[in-house]
Amino acid sequence: MIHHIDATVVESDEIYPGTFVTWYQGPELTHGATPGQFAMVQPRPGFDPMLPRAFSYYRFRERDGERQFALLYQIVGEVTGLMAAQQPGEITRMTGPLGHGFSVNAGAGNLLLVGGGVGIAPLVALADEQIEKGHSLVLCFGARRADGVFPAELLPSEVEYAVATEDGAVGREGLVTDLFADYLPWADQTLSCGPTPMFRSMAEVVRRDGMRRAVQILMETEMACGLGICYGCAVFSKKGVRLCCKDGPRFDLLDVY
Ligand SMILES: Cc1cc2nc3c(=O)[nH]c(=O)nc-3n(C[C@H](O)[C@H](O)[C@H](O)COP(=O)(O)OP(=O)(O)OC[C@H]3O[C@@H](n4cnc5c(N)ncnc54)[C@H](O)[C@@H]3O)c2cc1C
Ligand code: FES
Repeated sequence: MIHHIDATVVESDEIYPGTFVTWYQGPELTHGATPGQFAMVQPRPGFDPMLPRAFSYYRFRERDGERQFALLYQIVGEVTGLMAAQQPGEITRMTGPLGHGFSVNAGAGNLLLVGGGVGIAPLVALADEQIEKGHSLVLCFGARRADGVFPAELLPSEVEYAVATEDGAVGREGLVTDLFADYLPWADQTLSCGPTPMFRSMAEVVRRDGMRRAVQILMETEMACGLGICYGCAVFSKKGVRLCCKDGPRFDLLDVY
């Protein structure tokens, strides 16, 4: 069930340079929420900014007898700027949980997660969930430089974490898709979130592999309503036009790229 509610800011932190995590109290927004689903966020009452923005659930926790959730973001515009400036106790209007989250195949024991930039957010939620269920997990993450690398200590210790940076300062020198190619034969299933160029390269790797392995991706197409009303988030998939907010944001990589 979708809820429109006022969530209360609990705490905020800059977890690595330029990347923020805000925890919220708004238990209805966590009811039935699964990794890969998202909430539409409107940090100020009224119509300024006019449109809410979409954010994936990053983490869930129990605190003071309540279920809380966190969003992870970089400041790229008005809404993310407002989110980072909010103080504990302030209110944010949200709608969620929305969309279809990741779907892990029955019998998939080895899970490969591939992320870039803020695409790490839903992958952390997924890692938390799947480690609890006893799966083996490798998380590949790519960043331009060392200061853009998601900190290993924030992941469950059971996750094998593989990093690529473009300048080689941390992990392998190169792109996250190089790591993806190495781990692909090990994986029973791959689940991914990140920028469009990353998805394009992943599709090339999968085609080269010849086995046409299924890779699930979460797309972050710009959205205006998040509810299937405005048709602003169309995805031109090989199966026809789909709405990212309503039919996705989960898609099969090779259906789109
Ligand atoms: C399903 C979904 C989940 C998302 N999850 C997260 C998340 O967990 N963390 C996070 O930081 N962001 C996430 N995003 C992206 C986030 O919604 C946008 O970046 C949002 O526009 C930020 O709002 P703003 O007002 O700060 O910036 P805006 O002023 O809206 O945008 C700043 C700039 O980014 C461009 N832009 C806006 N949206 C997108 C987009 N989707 N892709 C590429 N460029 C865009 C704009 O054209 C503009 O140039 C998600 C998007 C979707 C659709
Ligand atoms: S964002 Fe309006 S239809 Fe998808």
